[in-house]
Amino acid sequence: MNNCDIRYILTYGGIFLADIAEQINKRRTFAIISHPDAGKTTLTEKLLLYGGAINLAGSVKGKKTAKHAVSDWMEIEKQRGISVTSSVMQFKYNGYCINILDTPGHQDFSEDTYRTLMAADSAVMVIDGSKGVENQTIKLFKVCVMRHIPIITFINKMDRDAKNPFELLEDIENVLGINTCPVNWPIGSGKEFKGVYDRKSKNVLAFTANNGQKEVEKDVISIDDPSLEGIIGTDKKNELFDDIELLDGAGDEFDLQAVRKGELTPVFFGSALTNFGVEPFLEEFLQLTTPPLPRECLDGVVEPVSDFFSAFVFKIQANMNKAHRDRIAFMRICSGKFDRNMEVYHVQGNKKMKLSQPQQIMAQEREVVEEAYAGDIIGVFDPGIFSIGDTICSVNQKFQFKGIPTFAPEHFALVRQKDTMKRKQFIKGTNQIAQEGAIQIFQELDAGMEEVIVGVVGVLQFDVLKYRLENEYNVDIILEGLPYQFIRWIGNDDIDPKKLDLASDTKRIQDLKGNYLLLFTSYWSITWALEHNKGLILEEFGNV
Ligand code: G4P
Repeated sequence: MNNCDIRYILTYGGIFLADIAEQINKRRTFAIISHPDAGKTTLTEKLLLYGGAINLAGSVKGKKTAKHAVSDWMEIEKQRGISVTSSVMQFKYNGYCINILDTPGHQDFSEDTYRTLMAADSAVMVIDGSKGVENQTIKLFKVCVMRHIPIITFINKMDRDAKNPFELLEDIENVLGINTCPVNWPIGSGKEFKGVYDRKSKNVLAFTANNGQKEVEKDVISIDDPSLEGIIGTDKKNELFDDIELLDGAGDEFDLQAVRKGELTPVFFGSALTNFGVEPFLEEFLQLTTPPLPRECLDGVVEPVSDFFSAFVFKIQANMNKAHRDRIAFMRICSGKFDRNMEVYHVQGNKKMKLSQPQQIMAQEREVVEEAYAGDIIGVFDPGIFSIGDTICSVNQKFQFKGIPTFAPEHFALVRQKDTMKRKQFIKGTNQIAQEGAIQIFQELDAGMEEVIVGVVGVLQFDVLKYRLENEYNVDIILEGLPYQFIRWIGNDDIDPKKLDLASDTKRIQDLKGNYLLLFTSYWSITWALEHNKGLILEEFGNV
């Protein structure tokens, strides 16, 4: 059989599977994660600049100025200077097609970050060199480690006074429990920043500040070049030689398999603002990461290069554009090719359909997608039928991707509308925001919809709820904090929650899907419930 025959056999909908494979292998899909102000937006913009996706060769559009970074679209983000929602961007570079998933930059939105990570094959973690891993972001970074995907670290702002690089690595190792392997090594920092030493090529890339242009002047000198001392100075040269000896002797060895399993993070030092080290980082990143990976479904795995299309919903966002009052479901394509006019099957809804207005979104810019491949993210118009975790696939396939876990909320409040005439908007708003996964809502058993119990992982989510209900649904609300600390899903199918013998401060509630749960004020009452109800199963995570 010759090559031509093979290509003929692999024909799928008039397209060669080999051609699909070629497209998929070019793809890289990663999430970018950082603590606020570490430089995630700046780094993203510089990456987009290399791909020609944005034209503005300017520094990051400052939050204090009138302009805003391309990935921040919601009012509340602009006001607070944090990313609340995640956005998706695509650009092409050197034959690769790269999808960047921006994540919320605050740990109160860790659950959203986790869902976004579910759609990514790797993550870039941006750390501010002067701060290291900050306390309030440990949780955010830990969800990244939980996903076991490759994490590539970019230690930013080396043009400012930074912590000792060994200390920075130790921080990452101790706090996140992941080994580090520096790919390059900084020579000084702040005013004394002279550049980085690339450990593989054994060359020094001398620091040249460049705020905007894509073409960066490159000054590359071999470590053995006698002119190096003149460029970086005697002290810095001696320091560098000592550091190299230490690193080569004591550091973790580079091991690509460990990187791919998320056990070892390659670390890059650079400065996004001055565009220093961004392109070498991007080039190395493309080598370190893989094309889209297979995805687990309930009864096996789905290979990206397959003769059928499949995707799952990882994010739903309503009212991205207030003028349109629309709702977009974001899906990650897991296998095959998506064609704009194809008919697909929505597994959870048990329905055939055409995906309406498929689009790729870059901040507010939307572009209709004619075709997309495994690894890509598309947004589709959602008339209220999709939920997070839903599977969409070719009509002749019927399988389901594994669900996305729901984090147990840690803060609870009773929420009701100020104006009782606005009941309809209140119910619609809280339900829609809950369907997006921005909050979780519960109902006390046998209670009406006048008030709902809202559970959140981080308290800032309450602010988002209040703000969005006011701005998008025109409803003012009263939020009353509740003393509950723990929530558990009842795992038994055959238990009537009303018949459970519980401590007096334990509350019986129901979620949007009708699952029964219990709210506890202390561990003591959880133990009490388990001891007084033989066979009761209490689960810490729900599944969407
Ligand atoms: P974030 O998305 O992670 O929150 O961070 P962002 O990129 O918005 O950067 C936060 C601040 O840090 C910005 O300054 C940005 O200019 C600055 N910054 C980012 N990368 C670097 C770097 O490599 N070196 C230095 N020196 N600064 C960097 P800002 O004052 O908050 O905003 P602006 O008014 O200056 O734009």
